[in-house]
Amino acid sequence: MAPIIAIDGPSAAGKGTLARRLAAHFGLPHLDTGLLYRAVGLKAEQTGRPPEEVAAGLEPADLGNPELRTDVAGQAASKVAALPEVRAKLLDFQKKFASQASGAVLDGRDVGTVICPGAPIKLFVTASAEARAERRYRELRAKGVDTIKPRVLAEMAERDRRDSERAAAPLKAAPDAFHLDTSDMDADAAFAAALAFIERKGFRS
Ligand code: DC
Repeated sequence: MAPIIAIDGPSAAGKGTLARRLAAHFGLPHLDTGLLYRAVGLKAEQTGRPPEEVAAGLEPADLGNPELRTDVAGQAASKVAALPEVRAKLLDFQKKFASQASGAVLDGRDVGTVICPGAPIKLFVTASAEARAERRYRELRAKGVDTIKPRVLAEMAERDRRDSERAAAPLKAAPDAFHLDTSDMDADAAFAAALAFIERKGFRS
């Protein structure tokens, strides 16, 4: 069976880094599904076009916009991600990516629950709000962004709330997901814990 690794969790819990490392380790293609919502949110805001129309016409070039990693794009993404029409327009692409013969690693909010409910490997990566805000704050400072920690914490809480409370595919752990709390782990420890779980499931690189 082609391994599909589904990774979900809130922002700055470490799922992106973990997804990239697992993809490299197993030689699998990786899709950061948040990038799709970021691209739709940003383009809709910049062009004033309806988000569902932008989602329907999303092009590969839209995913190369360097502004996608900013917090402005993150907030815009979280808003358009609450619209069922937008989610529906992005579903096919994600399902196709997941059904490649090689297998795949996908990370996001609803990979284990909606996009790949049959994935044999599901990880739900969390960390305390404090630990996530601290990481995000350091990342922003390293990029030269002038901000303060309470502001990072407040913006993260707002996004978490919107992502968890929306009716359409909210952030939620699949019942069969392995929970990984990275509050007290660095990237190496999180990778080792995830790998141990995956190997227990019988998958090896
Ligand atoms: O993972 P991220 O920070 O790049 O995601 C940006 C936003 O996109 C996030 O706040 C919620 C939304 N999102 C989603 O609703 N479903 C996904 N599978 C991935 C992201």
